Amino acid sequence: MADPFPELEEDVSPQRQAEGLKTLRLVLWGVVVLAVGIGLFAMLAPDRSPPPSDQASYADLIGGPFALTAPDGARVTDQTLKGKPFAIFFGFTRCPDVCPTTLSRMAQLRKQLGKDGDRFRIVFVSVDPGYDSPEDIGRYVALFGTPILGLTGTDKEVDAAVKAYRAFYEKVPTGGGDYTIDHTASVYLMDASGKLQSIIAYDETNPSALAKLKRLVG
Ligand code: NI
Repeated sequence: MADPFPELEEDVSPQRQAEGLKTLRLVLWGVVVLAVGIGLFAMLAPDRSPPPSDQASYADLIGGPFALTAPDGARVTDQTLKGKPFAIFFGFTRCPDVCPTTLSRMAQLRKQLGKDGDRFRIVFVSVDPGYDSPEDIGRYVALFGTPILGLTGTDKEVDAAVKAYRAFYEKVPTGGGDYTIDHTASVYLMDASGKLQSIIAYDETNPSALAKLKRLVG
């Protein structure tokens, strides 16, 4: 009897079969890499951004106790900041982009608020206390043309503040003993009682950020 599927036979030639298996193996590896990636993201994501649901309880988790040092040597704590809303941001003075961009933007948004602009504090916490002294931070924040309270502390104090805000930072070596620091790029807007009201994301539009600040000082 003649073969009814001559073309099929050609499809399963050893060479085609080998190519098919190779493709299948690549696809399977792709699935494994994707699954590991999703798993890692799920593990790391909660510390970096708020969960989409249950915003109210997330707000309660932000802004625990901390104690840091101002450029003039004064101690500043979560308690001393109470009574006036504040926008708090974590970074370091050698930051090439995120920190200067964010602090410039906060200064600009404050100007846009007009008279209401002085109804909230801008607080910058350096997560690089080994390099940024309180005096260095004072000189740095003075560059932005608006009052900014620059703070830092011992490693332990900085870590406590970062943890209180569920923020994140990580020193990343760049070679030759130097490093940069990956850090949370969001600005936390805290009301006068020290409770989280909202967050300004790094990629948020200025009108949206301004609306949040209006609500903060309203
Ligand atoms: Ni930065």
